[in-house]
Amino acid sequence: PRIVSAAFVGASTDASTLPAPTLAEVAFAGRSNVGKSSLLNAMMQRKSLARTSRTPGCTRQVNIFEVGWTDGLRVHLVDLPGYGYAKRSRSEKISWGPLIESYLATRQVLRAVTLLIDARRGAEDDDLALIEFLESLENPPQIFLAATKIDKFSRAQQKPAVEKVKRQFRGPVIGFSSVTGDGRDSLWQRLRAVVQN
Ligand code: GTP
Ligand code: MG
Repeated sequence: PRIVSAAFVGASTDASTLPAPTLAEVAFAGRSNVGKSSLLNAMMQRKSLARTSRTPGCTRQVNIFEVGWTDGLRVHLVDLPGYGYAKRSRSEKISWGPLIESYLATRQVLRAVTLLIDARRGAEDDDLALIEFLESLENPPQIFLAATKIDKFSRAQQKPAVEKVKRQFRGPVIGFSSVTGDGRDSLWQRLRAVVQN
């Protein structure tokens, strides 16, 4: 099946005033600048439906998009603010933690979370903390790992880089590049399978 529609549904800085939970949702989480919004655009095959920036801290709200397929499947993709980013000075650290956590903990329709890890950096403490948080939820979503920006490696170096991230986790890790589209089909296959069940 192919994607036939992709559209922005709505956004909020408060998990309690988000668009109605009318469809199954898959969310995308990770450190600031890891490439969440870019990955969403690649997944939706839309150049700039989700706003991206070279400057960390670009996405400041929970943003919901709807994707429709030729076979009738419809799903919400949820772009979350990044974490782990200190803006300007260390003392002025912006924390999106409460917003991210309240969305993840309260959204009844949330079925899967794709955690993005920069393939060059590997998982860091706050990534591991997020996984622990997700696993502690009463109705834990399915967790997928995407090792992002693999185009920064030569073809020969890509597999070892993804393998390195894999060793930090139990679950599957998908190498992804928003520039080349690598990993897109593989990630969609997994996410569609979760939503269809
Ligand atoms: P926040 O919204 O701040 O949390 O960031 P984000 O995770 O949404 O990152 P975003 O998609 O805005 O991308 C951050 C920067 O990384 C931008 O300059 C993107 O062009 C770049 N980028 C994202 N994905 C890729 C990728 O797969 N390859 C390369 N080379 N650059 C990427
Ligand atoms: Mg973003």
